[in-house]
Amino acid sequence: MKTVRIHHFKDMKARGEKITMLTAYDYPTARAFDAAGVDMLLVGDSLGDNVLGYDSTVPLTLDEMIPFARAVAKGAPHSFVVADLPFGTYEVSPEQAVESSIRMMKLSGAQAIKFEGGRRIARQVKAVTDAGIPFCGHLGFTPQSENALGGRRIQGRGHGAYDELLADALALQEAGAFAVVLEMVIAPVAEKVTAALDIPTIGIGAGSGTDGQVLVWLDALGVGDWHPSFSHQFAQVGEQMAAGAAGYVEAVKGGAFPTADHTFDE
Ligand code: KIV
Repeated sequence: MKTVRIHHFKDMKARGEKITMLTAYDYPTARAFDAAGVDMLLVGDSLGDNVLGYDSTVPLTLDEMIPFARAVAKGAPHSFVVADLPFGTYEVSPEQAVESSIRMMKLSGAQAIKFEGGRRIARQVKAVTDAGIPFCGHLGFTPQSENALGGRRIQGRGHGAYDELLADALALQEAGAFAVVLEMVIAPVAEKVTAALDIPTIGIGAGSGTDGQVLVWLDALGVGDWHPSFSHQFAQVGEQMAAGAAGYVEAVKGGAFPTADHTFDE
């Protein structure tokens, strides 16, 4: 199986091969997605709300994220692993962004860093890429700024929205980003931004005109009873887990498990 490296993404954009990315937060999930041939695994700060049960991504800390990122990197020898920097660990200065990125890279083994924003964090991105750290941008709806954006709102609508998004995307490209995630951006705008960039765009709720797609794995594989309208359930893992656990309870309570096959003799 091919090991995915940073230069492959530009080649994939050039030949029109779609890039696949899923979030992952632990070792067994990373192993499964790596074996399935997912190009990139994102240890997203969606870890905060999806795994740790927080109300949003905002409370998550760098120290909380690192062990999850390390587990994913360990379980993914072929996929390219990108780790998010959580809110509050890069906004203050380029120095803060470089220190947080180095800490994440050294302690987790991830191959790239992602954080949110465009022109407002371009100095941080330049400092991070100058330090030799691959960087993936994140524009459109940016969950860490949910409070400032007024909730989960679709982006790219209205006069001037395309120009603003393009200016942000070009600033990230100029600062050395190797890719940019576009979240909840209307499809025609995402497509135009994609065509204007040399680096690939990875869409989530941004239509089919981006160079790749990313989904939160719990949404994509059917864990939980809700998923955003732009996602799709490619499996029903939640139902399988509930059925398996119920079968276990029934077997133990009814005395059907363990049998002699599961028992050590003298
Ligand atoms: O944290 C995350 O899961 C993300 C994706 C939504 C792109 O940033």
